Amino acid sequence: MQWKHKDLLDISQLSAEEVRHVLATAAYFREINSRPVKKVPTLKGRSVVLFFAEASTRTKTSFDMAGKRLSADTFALAKSGSSLTKGETLKDTALTLQAMNPDGIVIRHASSGAAQFLAERLECSVINAGDGRHAHPTQALLDALTLSRRWNGDFAGKTVLILGDISHSRVARSNVLLLTKLGANVRLCGPRTLLPPRLDTWPVTVFSDVAKAAQGVDAVMCLRLQLERQQAGLLPGLREYARTFGLSPRHMALAAPGACVLHPGPINRGVEIDSPLADSAESLILEQVENGVAVRMALLYLYLTRKSPDAAQPGIPA
Ligand code: CP
Repeated sequence: MQWKHKDLLDISQLSAEEVRHVLATAAYFREINSRPVKKVPTLKGRSVVLFFAEASTRTKTSFDMAGKRLSADTFALAKSGSSLTKGETLKDTALTLQAMNPDGIVIRHASSGAAQFLAERLECSVINAGDGRHAHPTQALLDALTLSRRWNGDFAGKTVLILGDISHSRVARSNVLLLTKLGANVRLCGPRTLLPPRLDTWPVTVFSDVAKAAQGVDAVMCLRLQLERQQAGLLPGLREYARTFGLSPRHMALAAPGACVLHPGPINRGVEIDSPLADSAESLILEQVENGVAVRMALLYLYLTRKSPDAAQPGIPA
């Protein structure tokens, strides 16, 4: 497939066929990640700026690792060490980075629309690593790879429950788009104060009771409580939240046989999810992290070689 997109801003840009192509490419890169020497020359000579204006462990490290495993040069820029702290605007930051001629910029930012703002001003590829509550497409793609491996690529008829702070979650928004695109049914459950308005326009079924929501599901995706984005007063307290909306083994006993648990991380153990359950055989949380490297290798490969697909092939041996 000739990759036609310059930027990855949200899952809505991708067709189901393109999503499957990303997952197939990532599956190839998973194999490279299992080799003793995890490096191929595929993106040698290309440069990627990792511009993280919000905290990150998984996304930032896995993009850095993905770039380096493909032999790209990666340059990390954090808000705290950048001239944003001196009052430089996002537009001037973008133009400054553009002047250095990178092949791609990966951006995480607290403002919804920040990735699109850059994409409209830059010639290089922009990949959204999470913007406000809007979108986290690379997380949804790694979640899809994780479920695809569990379900042998067949999402049709599967039901996924997304549980927790839906309102502030870019992970939930991107996953609803992606899971339904691949043919899965999506249920949402969370406190009424943490559900977004106009859920009637989303292709989901909404529950207020976790036990009812978990009945017969094939996977439960817990969400982090985004306390940094919440106004005061949305929750009565963390203990009360854990008691009412925390995922526990008794909920998983109601799910379909073989059902699995996901969480994008970072986890608030004992709040969003029972701590032993997070470490149990049902949990795919660390496999999500592993798949994150492969998915981000696939995305860097597809977006950075889109103009010259023959110049770099993923199949170049290490
Ligand atoms: N899931 C996720 O985006 O994690 P980080 O904030 O650690 O990147």
